[in-house]
Amino acid sequence: MNQKIEEILAAISELRANTEKEIEELRIKYLGKKGEVTALFEEFRNVLPEQKREFGQKLNVLKNAVQSKIESLKENIAETGAAKTSCDLTKPGDRMDLGTRHPISITREEIISIFHKFGYTVAEGPEIEDDWHVFGALNFPPEHPARDMQDTFFIHASDNPVLLRTHTSSVQVRAMEKMDLPIRVLCPGRVFRNEAISARAHCIFHQVEGLYIDKGVSFADLKQAVLLFAREMFGEDTEIRLRPSYFPFTEPSAEVDVSCNICKGKGCNICKGTGWLEIMGCGMVDPNVLEASGIDSKVYSGFAFGMGIERIAMLKWQVKDLRHYFENDVRFLRQFETVI
Ligand code: DAH
Repeated sequence: MNQKIEEILAAISELRANTEKEIEELRIKYLGKKGEVTALFEEFRNVLPEQKREFGQKLNVLKNAVQSKIESLKENIAETGAAKTSCDLTKPGDRMDLGTRHPISITREEIISIFHKFGYTVAEGPEIEDDWHVFGALNFPPEHPARDMQDTFFIHASDNPVLLRTHTSSVQVRAMEKMDLPIRVLCPGRVFRNEAISARAHCIFHQVEGLYIDKGVSFADLKQAVLLFAREMFGEDTEIRLRPSYFPFTEPSAEVDVSCNICKGKGCNICKGTGWLEIMGCGMVDPNVLEASGIDSKVYSGFAFGMGIERIAMLKWQVKDLRHYFENDVRFLRQFETVI
């Protein structure tokens, strides 16, 4: 009898049941009229009087153990049953709101990846600059208006002023100082100008500067690079035109227009009826600029170009107000979700 009690005790600790029916079967197996525990109680009648006390206690322990095991199996089923109705663990999880890439970042990456194919690497430079890298080395005369407080943010104005760069051409100077020739580099970054904020102007915006210096680089190379870029950016049938212009750091200089991709050159309100949209400035690097950075202008020549990222993005997506790019209104930003 002792052995049978031990066996049942060991067995019940292992009991498992998934349904109420299975639990009921277990209850009958142990505690039913013909159950194993009930049978032991029957046997108890034949136990010698002096052993009754000991076996009586053991049998009661056994019966309690079986009953509490059955109760706990019932509770388990009730819990998982309740859980089943409120949560389906096989369902896919909720979609996480990851946000979107900013249109300026998307455009910046697109410009970089286009020029990457032509072998350009990326260089970055400081936003807080000195006069030499923003103006001096780029052939700006001392009385140039850009050197005025009206146009440039000065951190301190002295004989050796510290200022916020007004263009990323400053990084082209740093590239010429540091990099080995030939140089083929793109310089993206933020620039700062002392402008009143409006739909068409902002005191902070982004530019990408390009620079290519090697032996025998010509204006034809510049034109070809710009044409390939324009077609990759705005579509295969895009045409370009170069208008003569002036920048202190390039000679000759030009402004680049692309054929309007909205009206296909017919004239619309985006291109103001001209069929052309201005996208960048460019030119052959002035020999003075090469020499200022220690490059022999008799051996080397090069071209440079600079474009505003906001401007390119505006043309790509017809954004009419520059301020949208800085306000980070999610209703604006979410429109670029599918662009990436
Ligand atoms: N730095 C000029 C600007 O901010 C843009 C520019 C024009 C860059 C002509 C160039 C260039 O490299 O050749 O308006």
